[in-house]
Amino acid sequence: MQRDEPADKVLEPAAAKEKFVPSLFDRIAVHYDTMNLVMTAGVWRYWQRVFRRSCGVEAGAQVLDVGCGTAELSLLTSELVGPRGHVTGIDVSSRMLEIAERKVGASPLRDRITLQWGDALQIQFPPERFDAAVSAFVMRNVADLDRALAEIARVVRPGGRVAIMELSQPPASIIRAPFMFYFRRILPLLGLWADRAGLPVAPYAWLPKSLETFPGAEELAERMRRAGMVDVRFLRLTAGIVCLHLARVAPV
Ligand SMILES: C[S@@+](CC[C@H](N)C(=O)[O-])C[C@H]1O[C@@H](n2cnc3c(N)ncnc32)[C@H](O)[C@@H]1O
Repeated sequence: MQRDEPADKVLEPAAAKEKFVPSLFDRIAVHYDTMNLVMTAGVWRYWQRVFRRSCGVEAGAQVLDVGCGTAELSLLTSELVGPRGHVTGIDVSSRMLEIAERKVGASPLRDRITLQWGDALQIQFPPERFDAAVSAFVMRNVADLDRALAEIARVVRPGGRVAIMELSQPPASIIRAPFMFYFRRILPLLGLWADRAGLPVAPYAWLPKSLETFPGAEELAERMRRAGMVDVRFLRLTAGIVCLHLARVAPV
């Protein structure tokens, strides 16, 4: 397991997420994009393409990217908002933000993106500040999902769009069994490889653990409704390994 962190710490209960998650992402930041491509065998790019055409972000929009990480989604949505729009990315991991700053700085769309430290559980913006909020692979990591959803609903204007992409447990057992086998048995092997290569191992243990306790697609949709979102629907991608939830904040 992680050389500088014992196994039982890696698998801490949800209450410890607030402390554990930022340091986890700080440690893997440099390798994050490469690891994503390896762990998903490149399918990550396909999920991003679906996100792009389904998220409903319009030209001129003010968009919040919650848990922007290395700014993959911020860069993607900055193309959609055009020259009159703007994307603000927030994240609790300073190292992920450093990588994001580097990528955004090298992009011709850098003027459309602002990155800053920020917590999904206490978003530092006033109510109705944004036309849309997007988020990918973050909600599994937050200590209080309902609070994060409520915060997103608070900072998006009534009628504004919300698009949340997250890993999910596939509904069909014929898919779920090999999928969970991959997560429980193959990912730890990747962890061994990472260990030998001197990379952090913790994420390989954290990933299956965080997924096991995350609500299924139907329940997540229901919790988005409870947070004040309407027209909630979801697309299951790659046999339901990933779900893209789409919604609007309830009009007043
Ligand atoms: C799996 S990465 C996803 C990054 C990016 N959205 C992407 O699609 O590549 C999860 C990110 O969520 C961030 N995160 C976790 N909890 C957070 C919170 N409470 N508030 C803001 N960001 C958070 C982590 O620091 C990490 O950068």
